[in-house]
Amino acid sequence: MKRRNFIKNATLSSAGLAIGSSLVGCADTSSKEKNSTAATVNNASTAKLPMVIATWHVIDATAKAMEVLQAGGNALDAVEQGCRIEEANEKGQSVGKGGLPDRDGNVTLDACIMDKHGNCGSVVYLQNITHAVSVARKVMEDTPHVMLAGEGAKQFAVSKGFEPEDLLTEASKKAWEKWKIEAQYKPIINIENHDTIGMLAIDKNGDISGACTTSGLAYKLGGRVGDSPIIGSGLFVDNEIGACVATGLGEEVVKTVGSFLVVELMRQGKSPQEACEEAISRIVKKPNSQFKDFQVGYIAVNKKGETGSYSIHQWFSMTKFQDGVNEQIQSDYFNKA
Ligand code: GLY
Repeated sequence: MKRRNFIKNATLSSAGLAIGSSLVGCADTSSKEKNSTAATVNNASTAKLPMVIATWHVIDATAKAMEVLQAGGNALDAVEQGCRIEEANEKGQSVGKGGLPDRDGNVTLDACIMDKHGNCGSVVYLQNITHAVSVARKVMEDTPHVMLAGEGAKQFAVSKGFEPEDLLTEASKKAWEKWKIEAQYKPIINIENHDTIGMLAIDKNGDISGACTTSGLAYKLGGRVGDSPIIGSGLFVDNEIGACVATGLGEEVVKTVGSFLVVELMRQGKSPQEACEEAISRIVKKPNSQFKDFQVGYIAVNKKGETGSYSIHQWFSMTKFQDGVNEQIQSDYFNKA
C-alpha cells in the first residue's frame, strides 16, 4: 500500500478503523515469501562484523552496503552507498527520485549522515538532487556547518558537481493529481512497506556510522521538514554506545528526540530492543497521544552488534545483513489491540 492510499483511507474512516484496514492491505507477502521473516529479538550470540541494518524491506540497499564493507570500506561509505540505492529507485515513492511531492507538487528531500567521530551533515528541503545523502556527506566533510537548507543546499550540491534533475516521476505526479481531487490534508504518515530509509552499519574495525534519507510526508505543507535531517531525532550515532534511526511521522520523533533517546537508553544499559520499545512508549503514553493515527518505528544497534526494532503499529520491518544472511525481519509493535 502506498502512502497516498493510507492517507485516503484515513480520511474515509475513523482513525482506528482506517489503520486496521490499511494494515491488512499493506502486508508485504511477496517479500515474506522471498526472505526469512521473524519477530525481532536481541541477538547477542549471533553478532558478527561487519554488519548493516536498515529500515523497511531494502535488501538491495543492504547488499550494496555489505559489498562496501566486505571490500574493506568503512561504515560511513557503506551507509552512504546503501542509501543511494533507494534514492535512485524510482519505484520507492518515499525517498529520492520518485518521492511523492508536497501539496504544491514539489519533491523536497531531507537527509543526514553521521560518522564514528560524531561528525554529521544534513540537508533539508533539498530540491532537484536525487542523492540527498551524498550532499549531506559533503556538508559534513567540506563545510564548517552541519545543516544546509533549500536553495542554499541545492546551490552547494551543484557546486560539488551534483546534476539537477526533475525528481517528480510520472507515477508520483499521477498520485499527486489524484490526491488533489479531494486534497484532504491529514498529517498522517504511511503505514506501508517503505518510508524513510535509515541505515546503520558497523565495519570490520567495529566502528559505527549511520544515514537516513526521505522525501518526507506526502502532500505536506510547502516548507515542512521532518525528523530525518535533524541529528538526534531521525538519526544518532555514538561510536562508544551504538546508533539508532527512525522512520514514520517525523513530528512525533522530533518531539521526543527519538534517536538520541534510544542511544542514551542503551548507554544506561538497555538492550537495543528495550531502548526502541521505551522510545515508542514515550510517544504512545503521552497524555492525549493520537498514536492510532500514525506510525513511528525505530531500529537500533549497539557496539556489540546486537540489534533491536520496534514500532507503534504492525508491518514495520528491518532489513539486516549479517554473517552472510540478508533478511527482512518483521518488527514487534505496540498496538496489538
Ligand atoms: N520520517 C520522515 C518524515 O517525517 O519526514
